[in-house]
Amino acid sequence: MAKSRTVFVCSGCGASSPKWAGQCGDCGEWNTLQEQVLAAATPRAAAAPRGQYAGDAGVKTLAEVSTEEEARFGTGLRELDRVLGGGLVQGGVVLLGGDPGIGKSTLLLQTVAMLPGDLRSLYVTGEESLRQVGLRARRLGVAAERMQVLAETSVEAIVDAARAARPQVLVVDSIQTVFSENLQSAPGSVSQVREAAAHLVRYAKQSGTALFLVGHVTKEGALAGPRVLEHMVDTVLYFESESGSRFRLLRAVKNRFGAANELGVFAMDEAGLKEVKNPSAIFLSRHDEPVAGSVITVTREGSRPLLVEVQALVADSAMSNPRRVALGVDANRLSMLLAVLQRHGTVQMHGQDIFLNVVGGVRLSETASDLPSLMAVLSSFRDRPVPQDCVVFGEVGLAGEIRPVPNGEERLREAAKHGFRRAVVPYKNAPRGKGPQGMEVVPVRRLAEAVAALF
Ligand code: TYD
Ligand code: MG
Repeated sequence: MAKSRTVFVCSGCGASSPKWAGQCGDCGEWNTLQEQVLAAATPRAAAAPRGQYAGDAGVKTLAEVSTEEEARFGTGLRELDRVLGGGLVQGGVVLLGGDPGIGKSTLLLQTVAMLPGDLRSLYVTGEESLRQVGLRARRLGVAAERMQVLAETSVEAIVDAARAARPQVLVVDSIQTVFSENLQSAPGSVSQVREAAAHLVRYAKQSGTALFLVGHVTKEGALAGPRVLEHMVDTVLYFESESGSRFRLLRAVKNRFGAANELGVFAMDEAGLKEVKNPSAIFLSRHDEPVAGSVITVTREGSRPLLVEVQALVADSAMSNPRRVALGVDANRLSMLLAVLQRHGTVQMHGQDIFLNVVGGVRLSETASDLPSLMAVLSSFRDRPVPQDCVVFGEVGLAGEIRPVPNGEERLREAAKHGFRRAVVPYKNAPRGKGPQGMEVVPVRRLAEAVAALF
């Protein structure tokens, strides 16, 4: 009998290699390569029509290709639509990731329940029993009559059921519980997750069904079986929050049908998730009096501005290697900024532990957070509060220059709307004369100017 072919697959990232090695060549993790038997191509897949999308088979010129906007339909949840880039797309596949208990199942159950009346949906649960889903639906007060549910973990059975029920929106909760009968490996293993997801994606594309896949996040913050899934789907959404907070942030990290980095905000209460329509100031904690180490900035997540507080604590260190801890901003960027501050602000903090935190569990990925981060650090270091009615934003260059950021005026308008009277901003972002609503805008070109303006 011919020896069956095997490959070695990394359990972390799903990369495969023909030989065993101690370290995965792709992601660099150790001891993650596991031997797997190569399964023959599934007969179902071979029988399906060619071309990933319906109507895409064969060579065409681009002129023959229809470039009409994808047909979108709203979900009834505006914050979700916003993150999706304007609603669901036929045949679009959305991966929803997040920690256990964050509210992924709740969000999707509410979503299918609120779909416009002419849309059919199918909610497939592999984690909870139908009774549990039913109890949750009752608690959420959603209309149970229109909702089709299925408890199933075999991907072949799920696709068969979907072919029969023909939903326009299909939810699979979660992809890690689903397995393919064609593979021997255990459910949840990378090859199973990949095969099951590939099968579902193929079905969604060919039938024009909008598909939601729920994915769990591992402790390291990556979707289990991660990269394979992120490549296969059109949209990757992360559902996240700070522990203890009732606010939930829905963030698009990849979107073939819209802008990435778009942010939706929900609040979780006894009756499920509520949309937060105007979230720009929810992360502001107003202190009674100015405190050192706190700076308010206007970030722009996706298409709207958000006011957030950056907090820093600088303390004498007892260690030879002082600690640098950054939550909500990139730690490497913080190190770089501190070096700039040392060189161009002539502030020495060698012997100091530095902690930086963005309030509310918000993550700032844009460079506009450079200047407020540094000013928060400096404020704590010198124990000098920044005035409470002042916002700061701007990118800091390695030469100590303050560089402009996109949408400066919109940020200023948002800050003015919430009662801020002063702003320290990059020179090129400053309006001529007064800012919106008579706001005093201090334009700065160099880091030293910003320091002089605030302290
Ligand atoms: P769930 O949707 O099950 O999370 P996930 O699918 O991401 O694991 O959410 C469960 C949590 O949400 C649980 O801790 C209870 C809370 N919750 C509410 O606070 N209110 C509600 O109405 C519901 C349904 C859940
Ligand atoms: Mg769940």
